[in-house]
Amino acid sequence: MKELQIRNMPELPFDMSEALNQLRVNLGFCGDQVKTVMLTSSVPNEGKSFVAMQLWKQMAEVGTPTLLIDCDFRNSELRSKYGLSSTGKLTGGAHYLAGISELDDVLYQTSIPNGYILPVASAIANPTILLEGPRFSQMIETCERMFEYVLIDTPPIGSVADALNIATHCDGTVLVVRSGSTPRKMVDNSVQLLKRTETPLLGIVLNRADMNSKSNVYYHRYYRSGYYYNKEYGKTYGYGQHSVKNK
Ligand SMILES: Nc1ncnc2c1ncn2[C@@H]1O[C@H](COP(=O)(O)OP(=O)(O)OP(=O)(O)O)[C@@H](O)[C@H]1O
Ligand SMILES: [Mg+2]
Repeated sequence: MKELQIRNMPELPFDMSEALNQLRVNLGFCGDQVKTVMLTSSVPNEGKSFVAMQLWKQMAEVGTPTLLIDCDFRNSELRSKYGLSSTGKLTGGAHYLAGISELDDVLYQTSIPNGYILPVASAIANPTILLEGPRFSQMIETCERMFEYVLIDTPPIGSVADALNIATHCDGTVLVVRSGSTPRKMVDNSVQLLKRTETPLLGIVLNRADMNSKSNVYYHRYYRSGYYYNKEYGKTYGYGQHSVKNK
């Protein structure tokens, strides 16, 4: 299998990594029949790729062979943000879906044992025809047989229909919601749209919650988890307004 280097994988602070750990464990409770899980959100920038990448890493690190498929064909940032590179020419999902490459040519092992990635090599303007073609379902079915979990990173539901198309091939979906930012109505609308796909909505991840806000104090004091905006991590990435206390 070809190899993919990941040059910028951030190390997360304990609380954040523990919250992701809980998400991983909860996915396990969904049962053996839930193997292919799509992550999506209502609008851009809610943290789909962040959660997908970190969840993928955690699953691999506990010894579960896990494939992350990047299906954000129009606007994927995984390659640039996480510094993905291969020794030869990078080939991705679109190469396979267009019939230019075989599946073996687009599946990569990484330096994280049990962590595999099917990347987007370069953006394409209109992937709909590829997502609706027979090779997409063949790709998902084969990957499901090869790996214990398949996580799929997608574009936001509110922008294009891609995620809803992809959902129909998955065993479940996870909706990422950016705390304090995405209007409730938009979240409701996304839930309704996902319901129509008849693929179960496994849960909602509240990402980047400000654990200092009054409404979160109780939650933080007693559970010390949730996906939140962390000062140290935020600093590294040019964010950072809120600090997170351990108690
Ligand atoms: N919990 C978090 N704490 C700190 N930074 C975060 C968190 N979640 C996401 N980010 C950062 O926010 C930015 C947007 O996140 P990400 O790219 O995952 O969003 P997205 O929903 O995949 O966006 P898009 O719709 O453009 O694909 C990234 O720089 C990411 O590192
Ligand atoms: Mg993304």
